[in-house]
Amino acid sequence: MTAARTPPRISSTGLAARAAVVLRDNDTGTLVTASPRLYPHMWSWDAAFIAVGLAHLDVGRAVAELDTLLDAQWRDGMIPHIVFTGATDYFPGPDRWGTDAAPQRPRHVRTSGICQPAVHAIAVHRIVNVARRTSAADAELARRFAERAWPGLYRWHRWLVRHRLPDPSGLVTIVHGWESGMDNSPRWDLPYAAVRPGPDLPPYVRLDLAGVGHPGERPSDDEYDRYLWLVEQMRRAGYRPDEVVRTSDFLVGDVFGTALFALACDVLAKLGDDLGQNRAEIAALRAWSARARAAVAASCRPGTGLARDRDVRADRWLDAETLAGFAPLLCGGAGTRVEARLLDLLDGPRWAGHPALLAAVPPSVSPHSPDFDARRYWRGPQWPVLAWLLGWAFERRGWSQRAAGLREQGLRLVSDGSFGEYYEPFTGEPLGSTRQSWTAAVVLDWLCGP
Ligand code: SER
Repeated sequence: MTAARTPPRISSTGLAARAAVVLRDNDTGTLVTASPRLYPHMWSWDAAFIAVGLAHLDVGRAVAELDTLLDAQWRDGMIPHIVFTGATDYFPGPDRWGTDAAPQRPRHVRTSGICQPAVHAIAVHRIVNVARRTSAADAELARRFAERAWPGLYRWHRWLVRHRLPDPSGLVTIVHGWESGMDNSPRWDLPYAAVRPGPDLPPYVRLDLAGVGHPGERPSDDEYDRYLWLVEQMRRAGYRPDEVVRTSDFLVGDVFGTALFALACDVLAKLGDDLGQNRAEIAALRAWSARARAAVAASCRPGTGLARDRDVRADRWLDAETLAGFAPLLCGGAGTRVEARLLDLLDGPRWAGHPALLAAVPPSVSPHSPDFDARRYWRGPQWPVLAWLLGWAFERRGWSQRAAGLREQGLRLVSDGSFGEYYEPFTGEPLGSTRQSWTAAVVLDWLCGP
């Protein structure tokens, strides 16, 4: 194990300046790539966080980022998880996705054929608030953008309700681990074990391993075969949303994504009130939020209170001990006793209170879990962006002290100024990509205060 570093090394002003440089360097003009080497395209949920960071530098540029994403929205309402630039050094690229054959895809830009968590309304809300503090002109710019973006965001949420609630649990369902954003989390081990790539899986070469220091920081080859097999299944289903849900070997109720959806529906409904949007649509958002919140609460495991994903294909709850278990703390609805238990657990030695952590930020998997791997992507490392999300939700719930604690510890984690994609929890070593745009973005937001 590498010796733990001693943060902080860079002043707040220095860190903010470096974060701004990362966002500038990764900016192609119309979009900020998720990272310079590993992810040379726009990712849906990355773009939302990136826009929040950009708002602190230039509200107009923040708005343009989300305009670019919304411009790639499919005609049926889905916001795709990748909007491709011309870069060719990422796999799977647009040819492998084969979405050109999908009639509902956008005509002017190439995209993947799946989605990611619905965090975009949260970003719009934050941008509007930041802009109100900068100037009257920025406030007006953000307001006009929110007005313009609202119908598209509503259609996006409606797409999820129409096509991704096939299970009586009421959890928002995903057809690929990539849709959760937490690609190789132990949350998906059991459902992935049932995915058996066919002999007709077209050959491929991974390019991601060249973008990281060590293959042990990324998903395994076996996992990649499964990821690509699911893409193959969707291609064969012609990206028809209901056909994809019917045929995918992987169909899982994502409890963390459901909590984010509940939050985003609430935020979008409130924005809709402020902007005088369609009242029936605002009421629908509130109903979807209530349903999603109830689904998250109903998933809680008796005892710990940790929320659970649901393997729809195998009709079973999934018990991996990951950060997603704290989903009810984001959206509420589980009741005060369950929440008190979850907060104790979060603060305790299985999570953020683990005595060996460099920064008291909850890791993606409990270090006490047999699934924990301190270096491998979503199987243990700490993710600054998740600390930001928890902090944002806690602030909204009135838990300002908790939010401030996450901000302080999150800044401790990233204080070396490398803007790692994720961090080794005991040494603070940055892993995956460095100069990761969403890390720079949340750092800017942290430094600018609540
Ligand atoms: N996060 C994925 C990757 O690693 C794709 O969404 O490429």
